[in-house]
Amino acid sequence: MKIISTRFFKSSEKLDQLPTPNLPEYAFVGRSNVGKSSLINRLCDRRSLAKTSGTPGKTQLINHFLINENWYLVDLPGYGYAKVSKTQRGQFQVMITDYLMSRTSLMNTFVLVDSRIPPQEIDLSFMTFLGEVGLPFSIVFTKTDKVKPGALTRQQQEYEETLYQTWDELPPRFYTSAVTGRGMDELLDMIETVNGHFLDGDVEA
Ligand code: GTP
Ligand code: MG
Repeated sequence: MKIISTRFFKSSEKLDQLPTPNLPEYAFVGRSNVGKSSLINRLCDRRSLAKTSGTPGKTQLINHFLINENWYLVDLPGYGYAKVSKTQRGQFQVMITDYLMSRTSLMNTFVLVDSRIPPQEIDLSFMTFLGEVGLPFSIVFTKTDKVKPGALTRQQQEYEETLYQTWDELPPRFYTSAVTGRGMDELLDMIETVNGHFLDGDVEA
């Protein structure tokens, strides 16, 4: 899929402010600072569509971006960032899970994990939650430009072994970099394929 147009559509603080669910949408979620906003910008070939910063915890709203006027990309707040208060963290968590469970037009959730670090409990338990509520997801490994190829292969094996402890079948996995653009075509191809299911009226696909 080629990205022809992208525009910031709306920020929602609460679920009743979300756009009408009349277009397929894809949520990007992960720990704060994992590189969600950078990935979104790279995916859309725009330097500043989603706000990026060295200050973790910046994205605290549900941000909808309208792509090619026919699908939404959604930048969700990062989970588990220690510097926002515990109460605030709890509120984000509730908002994210409520959004994920109630959003009828949500086609797939991309769970971003840092390719430099071993599997983290917070990410694994988030994936378990998605599995339990029956939501399809993919894993997007970020910042691969910062890992040597050999180390990346070992990390990849370790991650898969960990996943096999919980899952019989692994979800789709993408290896990406917002710096080199690695993995962007694969992500867009998947989105294009799944968009087709929405047009077929098969929202659950
Ligand atoms: P929050 O919105 O705070 O949850 O963070 P985020 O997940 O949106 O992360 P963001 O995109 O703001 O990136 C965090 C930091 O990681 C920034 O300093 C980015 O420049 C850096 N970063 C993100 N992606 C990559 C990547 O692919 N490669 C490298 N080398 N750095 C990256
Ligand atoms: Mg962000």
